[in-house]
Amino acid sequence: MPLNHELANPIMSRLISAILKDAENHPTPDTSFDVIVIGGGAAGLSLALHLAPQARICLMTKGPLTEGATLYAQGGISAVLDKRDSIQSHIADTLDAGAGLCDEDVVRFVVEHGREAVQWLIDCGVPFTRQATAQGRSDYHLTREGGHSHRRVIHAEDATGRAVETTLEQQARHHTNIRLFEHHIAIDLITGRKLGLDINRCVGVYALNRQTHRVQAFSARFVVLATGGAGKVYLYTSNPDVATGDGIAMAWRAGCRVANMEFVQFHPTCLYHPKAKSFLITEAVRGEGGKLLLPDGSPFMHKFDARSELAPRDIVARAIDHEMKRTGSDYVLLDISHKSARFIKQHFPNIQARCLELGYDMVKEPIPVVPAAHYTCGGVMTDKHGRTDIEGLYAIGETAFTGLHGANRMASNSLLECLVFGKTASEDIQQQLAHTAAPPSLPAWDESRVTDSDEDVVVAHNWDEVRRFMWDYVGIVRTDKRLERAKSRVDLLLREINEYYGHFRVTNDLIELRNLALVADLIIRSAMRRKESRGLHYTLNYPASDNNSPPVNTVLKPANYAGEK
Ligand code: FAD
Ligand code: SIN
Repeated sequence: MPLNHELANPIMSRLISAILKDAENHPTPDTSFDVIVIGGGAAGLSLALHLAPQARICLMTKGPLTEGATLYAQGGISAVLDKRDSIQSHIADTLDAGAGLCDEDVVRFVVEHGREAVQWLIDCGVPFTRQATAQGRSDYHLTREGGHSHRRVIHAEDATGRAVETTLEQQARHHTNIRLFEHHIAIDLITGRKLGLDINRCVGVYALNRQTHRVQAFSARFVVLATGGAGKVYLYTSNPDVATGDGIAMAWRAGCRVANMEFVQFHPTCLYHPKAKSFLITEAVRGEGGKLLLPDGSPFMHKFDARSELAPRDIVARAIDHEMKRTGSDYVLLDISHKSARFIKQHFPNIQARCLELGYDMVKEPIPVVPAAHYTCGGVMTDKHGRTDIEGLYAIGETAFTGLHGANRMASNSLLECLVFGKTASEDIQQQLAHTAAPPSLPAWDESRVTDSDEDVVVAHNWDEVRRFMWDYVGIVRTDKRLERAKSRVDLLLREINEYYGHFRVTNDLIELRNLALVADLIIRSAMRRKESRGLHYTLNYPASDNNSPPVNTVLKPANYAGEK
């Protein structure tokens, strides 16, 4: 039997129980913690910082601490901060963008905590952009984005994520209760059931140190998945390389349900340039008056939605896709050159600088843009405290499915979700810390029957293949036939990857590929289940929404799902 690391087999479990009695691998202060937080974006950092006064925390990140989607967030964070705006309006806009699938209770909960979440960031020192008011006071500038009926997006120029991430990073680096494990990629969760114990509880994680190439077991009373999204499942994406859906895949393998994986959000406007690796052009450009044009200069958004450029993202991305296919063009144009140079440089300094580096001057001319995979609306099912189906395991941020986004996330609601659930999950953990037993000793990672791979090309090839067929067959516009094609390919790949995984020593690329293929499969299976078009899931076979019965979430249960708590 391939021994790479899966402990679900009962014989293995008994063996491991025996090993446990005599474990060489007793947890040490270096590998045993109160809480392991996997992920250092807005979700993971905020949870870690809220909990650090009360708990010893391991904060683990795949690459350098700051690398993740949060660092690249541009537009900002939505919250009701203007007296002309209202909680009810933010709720209504979110529900409308979510196309009937948002959980209204969760939406209200998140929106009502918006102001407090932003205030916490301000208190941490995030330098949000200010403007002078008519009365000569200085106030925070609020921008607008698609789906929002008011100005409610607080931002730090056009690089909000960088301001948030680096501010929180500094606090985490200097906190005595937070131990950083950068360049450690979590491979799999360790649960009581995997160890043959009669408890459905998460007690730790195996992680590969990418610098020493050693796999180590980390134990904790609580484990938090804050691993971000899965944009890398697609060939073209605005996401950074770390966004390979690891948390969703680990939770699924451990026995958690996932929901609404078919709702992958494509951002309408990434720069079209061979060297730009899908560089995002924030929706705030449209919020501040940017127009979408065909290559011949004619506008088109008015034909698709009365809100034109400020319609929710699914509508704008689909309209662009439609026009590109209809005209045979490789891109459409985004034009804000009618605004003054001063305005553009003041509002979008980083985007303007990047465009200039790549040979486009948005002050003088329209820039070419295309849609790209941007956000994973589905994820690990959680409640309002971030709890998953497994005791002691939490999921927060983009990796979680909370019910906030429904069939389409509204712009700038994601960072808000990270912050709100980072706090509520920390409070939930804090309440349980005192009466939660220390985790058991964990068995060491077993590499006795694996060798180094002599065929790394298999991994590289399969990485490319997954991302390409997902883009071609499971993209903005789907059909039954395309989904079937994708399903037969992913089935084949999963078999090949699992076999490879069982025989060869793990590497970063192999761990990510295994997760990418699994997440691709979850997306395809969810898409196949939805026999209607709704929000981000659009299929030519069922072009209308099914309005005959109330909309339902697509919930997938793994074979080892132990039932609701
Ligand atoms: P991330 O910030 O992605 O962090 C994930 C962390 O998990 C990283 O530290 C990574 O190293 C770690 N990790 C992953 N897998 C593993 C593993 N196996 N082992 C160890 N560590 C692991 N949203 C908004 O609300 N407003 C915006 O303006 C906005 N702009 C965006 C612009 C861009 C270009 C992108 C890509 C997204 C944008 N979004 C925006 C979405 C938003 O940025 C993300 O949804 C949000 O930042 C996710 O935060 P997170 O903490 O969940 O994950
Ligand atoms: C953007 O700035 O357009 C991205 C905002 C988001 O993804 O919420």
